[in-house]
Amino acid sequence: MTARLIRAEDDPIERRVSARLTATFDGKPLEGEAGQTVAGLLLANGIDSWRTTSVNGRPRGLFCGIGVCFDCIVTVNDERDVRACQRRVRDGDVVCPQHDELPEVKH
Ligand code: FES
Repeated sequence: MTARLIRAEDDPIERRVSARLTATFDGKPLEGEAGQTVAGLLLANGIDSWRTTSVNGRPRGLFCGIGVCFDCIVTVNDERDVRACQRRVRDGDVVCPQHDELPEVKH
């Protein structure tokens, strides 16, 4: 079996072509398809990490992909802590990465 792209009209499972949409990530316009998750949109556009950890600034993106780990959080239309793997992207969405600092400890 070889890896190859099958055109939608030639696909034996009769897949339909979805409506196109545009959203932005970190100010850059991205093209996607209706029904994609935010994580799907980012991955399809070659973005595999979209936030950094608070402790060491390590890159994070999709980990579990099922809404359990919260590694994929982003800000969507000013709403913080949105799990990118669970939110379907909508046309015109503004997606931003989150780079949170550790809270200050008061003694
Ligand atoms: S990747 Fe784990 S919650 Fe989204």
